[in-house]
Amino acid sequence: YYIGVDLGTSALKLVMMKGNGELVKTVSKEYPLYFPRSGWSEQNPTDWFLAVKEGLKELAACADEKIAGISFGGQMHGLVILDKDDNVLRPAILWNDGRSTEETDYLNNVIGKEKLSKLTANIAFAGFTAPKILWVKNNEPEIFEKIAKIMLPKDYISYMLSGNFSTDYSDASGMLLLDVKNKKWSKEMIDICSISEDMLPKLYESYEPVGDIKPELAKELGLNEGIKIVAGAGDNAAAAIGTATVGEGACNISLGTSGTVFISSKNFGVDNFNALHSFAHADGNYHLMGCMLSAASCNKWWMEEILKTKDFAKEQNNIDNLGENNVFFLPYLMGERSPHNDPDAAGTFIGMRMDTKREDMTLAVFEGVTFALRDSLEVARSLGIKIEKTMICGGGAKSPLWKRLVANILNVEVDVPMSEEGPGFGAAILAAVGCGEYESVEKAAKSIIKIKEKIKPEADLVVKYEEKYQKFKRIYPALKDVFK
Ligand code: XUL
Repeated sequence: YYIGVDLGTSALKLVMMKGNGELVKTVSKEYPLYFPRSGWSEQNPTDWFLAVKEGLKELAACADEKIAGISFGGQMHGLVILDKDDNVLRPAILWNDGRSTEETDYLNNVIGKEKLSKLTANIAFAGFTAPKILWVKNNEPEIFEKIAKIMLPKDYISYMLSGNFSTDYSDASGMLLLDVKNKKWSKEMIDICSISEDMLPKLYESYEPVGDIKPELAKELGLNEGIKIVAGAGDNAAAAIGTATVGEGACNISLGTSGTVFISSKNFGVDNFNALHSFAHADGNYHLMGCMLSAASCNKWWMEEILKTKDFAKEQNNIDNLGENNVFFLPYLMGERSPHNDPDAAGTFIGMRMDTKREDMTLAVFEGVTFALRDSLEVARSLGIKIEKTMICGGGAKSPLWKRLVANILNVEVDVPMSEEGPGFGAAILAAVGCGEYESVEKAAKSIIKIKEKIKPEADLVVKYEEKYQKFKRIYPALKDVFK
């Protein structure tokens, strides 16, 4: 058996599969997410590891065959720092945390976007790791001085399981410390951040084993010994493997806490404005990506905080006015990354009248998130990349309404895989490849991942949503100054 660990923001999801890709069992565990100030977002690495241990114990109890390998898909960019005795120095600062605006401005404007792009293939965004390191240096100097190890969320789990301090190229791409094209740490970026290379993990391809599970831990969790720990990937690259988004120009959309448009490529490439992230892929190649900070989390917020309900499906049942809704929603509840790069952006409803109903507001939330995804897709299209179909995954992919909106607002065919557990499946596939079960990640993904449904765009809705998108596009520029 192979286990994929999806270390998400809202929950941990574990997938156990057979060598042929057959799903044996999934386990999910929640942990707290803290917003200590507006726009800040933190989690405790020790909470993650506790959840991983509990989840692995549950899987061990129902595994009737040996477990050969474990790998990961982890929430990206989060800053985890340890002291010389491996104590966690402060809560992890997550990918959707916007506190490092000053440091991001410093990197983009003083060091300069052109230089950053040359060194790393990317510019600075508040969520990336390097600006967070500088934030700790500027705001918590006593903690900064104690830093011995800097790692990403899933690498903390890998380190705790195997004792090996490692990361992979796809996740390391999001630190703004990696020379993505040449797949090595950038010495200049390391200097700019006032750290040293020995604080950074050793680099691996996502499908390479980094060590074995610690025997005492295997015993504690009821697992067999000798389980290979395979490097794993950032959750978006893992999700792309788990939806077979490999090769040239394949697209995957993830509707999780974040919303991403992921385009795989055989070759390294950067767009002129660095509007899309240019990162390494988990199959050994590269990819482009747009990331919005609040996707399914907008719906969760709307349902749980405002409508005070847990029955998300019921709220969608009575929506029958696709293309006819006059309400607009801007989904920038945590500011926005792609394409606006504006931590101050905020959420907004616009266009309500006396006859506006609850269902119209709910539909506006789904539409608004999907329009914002289209903003990233349009950047890719403007680079000449043809996107006529996409895979889809993440919690939002469970909603038939949302999948239909994606098809019509983006004007693409939506191919739905057998499971929405993209990152977990992708991680399990990486474990299988790392253990020699398959020759390559691409071959493994293509043989394991099957499409269960194809949703085609509907001509009349495509026209209506094109009109509404053109209006949507005008709202953020008009309100940008109001959010400051
Ligand atoms: C990608 C990003 C998010 C997180 C979500 O750049 O920040 O998609 O990886 O876990």
